[in-house]
Amino acid sequence: MTTTPAPVPVRSHAELLELVSRLDLATKVRLLTGATSFTLHGEESIGLAPMAFSDGPTGVRGLKFTGGDHVALFPSATVLASAWSEETAHEVGEMLAEEAERQQIHVVLGPTINLHRTPLGGRLFEAYSEDPLLTGRLAAAYVRGMQGRGIGACLKHLVANESETLRNYMNSVVSETALREVYLLPFEIAVQDAGAWSIMAAYNDVNGVPATEQDHVNNGVVKGEWGWDGLLMSDWFATKTSAPAALGGLDLVMPGPDGPWGEALVADVESGAVAESVVDEHVVRLLRLAERVGALGSEDQRRTWPAESLAPDAPARREQLRRLATDGMVVLRNEGGVLPLAGTGRVALIGRHGVDTICMGGGSATVNPPYQVSIADGLREALGDRLTVVDGVEVRERAVAAEPSAITDPETGEPGLRVAYLDADGVVMSSEHSSVSSVVTGWDDVLPRPTEQVVLTARLTQPGPVRLGVVGGGRWTVDLDGEQVGATELVAEGSDPGESMLKPPVWTVDTHSTATDGRGALVTATLTVVRSEPQPGPDGKLSTLSHVIASGMGMKGLVVSPVPAPAEQVLAAASTTAADADVAVVVVGLTEEQETEATDKSTLALPGEQDAMVSAVAAAAKRTVVVVNASTPVLMPWFDEVDAVLVVGLPGQEGGHAVADALLGVREPAGRLVTSWPSADGAAPAWDVVPDGLTLEYRDGTFIGYRGFAAGRAAAPAHWLGAGDGYGAWTYGSARLVEGDAGAPAVEVTVANTSDHDSREVVQVYLRPDEDDQPVRLVGFAPVRVPAGGEGTVTVATDSRLWRRWDEAADAWGAPLSAGTLLVARGLGDVRAELPLAPSR
Ligand code: BGC
Repeated sequence: MTTTPAPVPVRSHAELLELVSRLDLATKVRLLTGATSFTLHGEESIGLAPMAFSDGPTGVRGLKFTGGDHVALFPSATVLASAWSEETAHEVGEMLAEEAERQQIHVVLGPTINLHRTPLGGRLFEAYSEDPLLTGRLAAAYVRGMQGRGIGACLKHLVANESETLRNYMNSVVSETALREVYLLPFEIAVQDAGAWSIMAAYNDVNGVPATEQDHVNNGVVKGEWGWDGLLMSDWFATKTSAPAALGGLDLVMPGPDGPWGEALVADVESGAVAESVVDEHVVRLLRLAERVGALGSEDQRRTWPAESLAPDAPARREQLRRLATDGMVVLRNEGGVLPLAGTGRVALIGRHGVDTICMGGGSATVNPPYQVSIADGLREALGDRLTVVDGVEVRERAVAAEPSAITDPETGEPGLRVAYLDADGVVMSSEHSSVSSVVTGWDDVLPRPTEQVVLTARLTQPGPVRLGVVGGGRWTVDLDGEQVGATELVAEGSDPGESMLKPPVWTVDTHSTATDGRGALVTATLTVVRSEPQPGPDGKLSTLSHVIASGMGMKGLVVSPVPAPAEQVLAAASTTAADADVAVVVVGLTEEQETEATDKSTLALPGEQDAMVSAVAAAAKRTVVVVNASTPVLMPWFDEVDAVLVVGLPGQEGGHAVADALLGVREPAGRLVTSWPSADGAAPAWDVVPDGLTLEYRDGTFIGYRGFAAGRAAAPAHWLGAGDGYGAWTYGSARLVEGDAGAPAVEVTVANTSDHDSREVVQVYLRPDEDDQPVRLVGFAPVRVPAGGEGTVTVATDSRLWRRWDEAADAWGAPLSAGTLLVARGLGDVRAELPLAPSR
């Protein structure tokens, strides 16, 4: 499964350069900025077809940011990584390639391989782990799976982009040692082991130089030392300059059609500030990518797209997504073997996340799935009337855009709403149905003239009390059946256009709707776009971002939701329902308010009164199982009050089915944590995400996550990276060192599954060097399936790249580590064997 695909034949450098030589300067430069948000220019004179890119990394969204075609929603990357399985990652890469082929997408913008440095990072759900080896190995397998089908992968975001606060302006200050040994390592592994065809340069600065201009990283390390021949594109709107970026190794500015290159880069070449050969090399890399993905050459040399492909809701796709989700769920507690619940009598399912399960995080990883199975739906299918479901306490601070099922388009009657765009003269430029209740203006809408007004109209499907409102910056009026229920002006916060899309301002009013003519009350929300003068960012500079923000673009939507019940009433209902059942399953978690791009968290505490809800249920129920619907660490002050805890992450469109399978033991939730979960806010080797000024110092150096916890740099975590029980029970035989590859030893160990469930173990090997300044680190892992009562022998290779040591004085790799102890562990909180290394190694 994890073999490297046969290399795609590409023209030699000289042949590509010859093609480039046929183009004049302006034509070459034009190719180096996107044509639209997600497409590139083609150039027929040299056989270059326009390429299409799409986010990734856990679903291929297509060319529209919101409301595009239905596509499969995968479990979040963190869930997929929790399987600790290269085979899984390879399969995911292949599946995403199929999703891309269906939509004629050449490059999928993923995997995200920044690390889980601080648990507050808003975007961790989209990345794999706090560990660079696990991240790199999974990324490499994903890339092999995807590129083996001729679809390009894009490793992102190079580099030191571990948090979101002020991401466009902040400067990550990282030692060369930490860069080499930790933050660049996943990129290095995915380049060396899988030959990724593209990489995305991050928004942030690295040691004072923008990532898009990082000559040292881009030209020196990645293209130079690693000999990487792929295409380096910018993150969206990240490029700040012409000459410094072109000279700093950036090949392609995204998105287009405008950007800081164009005429400025032509002028830089004409003035001699940038040699024309530099531009030529960027175009060579672009053509190489095009050839790899089948977008270069004569018609018969270009790729053809499959005539038939798996629909996002095809049974085979559903089965895959359900299995992948369960495989990444993590059992953190299972007192008295309460799980699996097979044979249990009456089950009470409690909590907002049970009825409205969060299946994906927010931001560019979001897709428009054909459906999302809630945990309530999944369990109801399995348990029928043995299941009682009650809603829980509020979990969001902001109101969200309406569930499409709560509204219908007044013109077509379909679920969703009608969006009309008007110009300055009030002429309707476009009126279209939207199957989702929010749209991104100034981004997805391609209109003949600037939009001055956006009118959202919908009929409410239910009469009665209702919370109505609007989402997004601008001047709004809201009418219900022709009567105004409110008017407001909302201003988008922040200095990142992402915030106007992902954390838009919201206004709501509680009112009452009556079905006047049997068709449902008509709600009309009218937005007048408010433009402003571009303002300098926190760095004092006017940039592309300043103009994007001033244009008034962003998410605009309609809120239609039930009026929430008071928390005491909800807690009382939860306790009564729990007391009546044989087991209570209470579902808690985060939402896209916390697990999202463009903002970070400020606490690991669960939002709202969810902790109180768990304690109330635990006090009332015979047995309590908590399901955590969040991909990243949360605090669980009630941990010892409950019988079981199952972390299900953001499980994708098949989420509810997968959770039901896990709870009922249809399939083992066999995941292991990919990040250590702190015991309290602040108790982590790296915590802050708010830069000091604009500087965020990576003071933890190479002691990221479990490495720092193990060195006593923070109070012991509640749960270590690698922890997770599944439904097996394991004893380890003695371990021994065996010959490995590339001079790095391997460890052989026999594990016995003493439970009566067939199960899957992940054997982890850590190196604890003798030197105090060297952190303990994961050097190898291998999953193994063992039947109930059986044994399995595993050989875990250790990766020679984890034995290396960067020598700052020599500015080169120094003598590798040799003295220390190998630990065979189920996470560092549960070490099962120690193997001292002979000093001669
Ligand atoms: C994200 C990238 C993403 C791009 C395009 C940016 O905001 O950081 O990861 O690929 O948008 O949507």
